[in-house]
Amino acid sequence: MNTNLEKIDTTAQAPVTEPERQYYFMARAREHVKALEERLGRKPLCCVTTFGCQMNARDSEKLAGILKAAGYEMTQEENADFVIFNTCTVRDNANQRVYGRLGVLNGYKKKNPGMKIALCGCMMQEPSVIEKLKKSYGFVDLIFGTHNIYKFAELLTASFEREGMIIDIWKDTDRIVEDLPVERKYSFKSGINIMFGCNNFCSYCIVPYVRGRERSRNPEDIIREIEGLVSDGVTEVMLLGQNVNSYGKNLENPVTFAQLLTQVEKIEGLQRIRFMTSHPKDLSPELIQVMKESKKICRHLHLPLQSGSTRILKAMNRRYTKEQYLELALRIKREIPDISITTDIIVGFPGETFEDVEETIDVIRKVKFDNAFTFIYSKRTGTPAASMENQVPESQVKEAFDRVLKAVQDTAKEQAGRFQGQIMEVLVEERNENDPRLLTGRLSNNMLVHFPEDISLIGKLVRVSLDVCHGFYYTGRMVEE
Ligand code: 5AD
Ligand code: SF4
Repeated sequence: MNTNLEKIDTTAQAPVTEPERQYYFMARAREHVKALEERLGRKPLCCVTTFGCQMNARDSEKLAGILKAAGYEMTQEENADFVIFNTCTVRDNANQRVYGRLGVLNGYKKKNPGMKIALCGCMMQEPSVIEKLKKSYGFVDLIFGTHNIYKFAELLTASFEREGMIIDIWKDTDRIVEDLPVERKYSFKSGINIMFGCNNFCSYCIVPYVRGRERSRNPEDIIREIEGLVSDGVTEVMLLGQNVNSYGKNLENPVTFAQLLTQVEKIEGLQRIRFMTSHPKDLSPELIQVMKESKKICRHLHLPLQSGSTRILKAMNRRYTKEQYLELALRIKREIPDISITTDIIVGFPGETFEDVEETIDVIRKVKFDNAFTFIYSKRTGTPAASMENQVPESQVKEAFDRVLKAVQDTAKEQAGRFQGQIMEVLVEERNENDPRLLTGRLSNNMLVHFPEDISLIGKLVRVSLDVCHGFYYTGRMVEE
């Protein structure tokens, strides 16, 4: 949607339909930001800080889009005029980081009393968090949750027009608002939400409580958004959902994820398709077939294992066994030999024994994951696992964590070198952080490659010879066609 904010009559009543209502409030917020600019004698600065997953990163691009439309200039510095933390609560350490960083913001606000501090995202959906913020973090101006993020323009306006802390948290929603502005971090790649929420209720996980029930976007809206992105220079998209394999089940005209991928594949000019995250219990043979035949779907599958012990998987409510996971992962590797499989593993779930951890290590060795994120189990209030009696003592978890990590590192290293000497396509992403003479690009399987070339290639697909494997990345050189 291309709405000219200047043309909106802000003295009229706010429209009741969306997204028109939010564009009206963007225009109103813009007037406040303009007044602030005159007072400050410079452009007001805003900073969006993201905690957590790819979904949050995409939400932050939406927040940034609205802030930019309102007239703020973006900065990475948290010492800005408007700072928003888009929070995560999947593990407790994510929450602790937010509280720590809020203390720092309070220091900035004391020096710049006009500064506004806002909080949103998953952590805000927890009532205990809101209580704590109300009691001890009175300097926060605006708090909202995951279900009403589309209302950000309206809430931003309210924060200019009302005194005191504004809190707006919804318990759930069935609503999806399309066509709001987005400020992308990369010009050539983008995340796209295809669904929101999760219905799985894994017993350790807080996500279904803070992100609500599963809702899929209409395929036409997704395709239209991707087409728009492609015409704006995007060549790689990442389709996002907590459980993309159950995409489309609750639509009026049900569509499978594999069918959606087939449609996305047809978009001309789009070169690469990624997706995240897949639940093993819902990964269909149809999807494997579509991936296998596709020229655009990347050779990477993130397939969270969580545990290799059937007993623990049952307690986790994952609804697959060790054998079913192994069968699935090995079938995918057989069908698509150059694929990289990565995973998530939780160590220290209640009741986990030495033998259970051995089962997990057995799966790691058999599947040979290309990479794995290993997490220490974190007790999340309100989840079934939090009230299980046999919580594992810290020292035992630490020992198990080290063993799992070692197994992961060993197989990842072994896997990483398997493409050495080959020539592969790389999407050039940025100038190398440590060595400005090098570019950093990404292989279809998600590994990074560093090679000397000119920054004009950023955003382009080029062919690179993978000369040396350094564990988790390659160095190489570009080759002409
Ligand atoms: N403790 C530890 N890790 C968790 N995850 C989700 N909930 C918890 C928890 N309570 C991990 C899972 C999931 C990833 C995104 O975070 O491995 O796949
Ligand atoms: Fe959490 Fe399980 Fe849903 Fe993933 S699938 S978000 S781990 S409940």
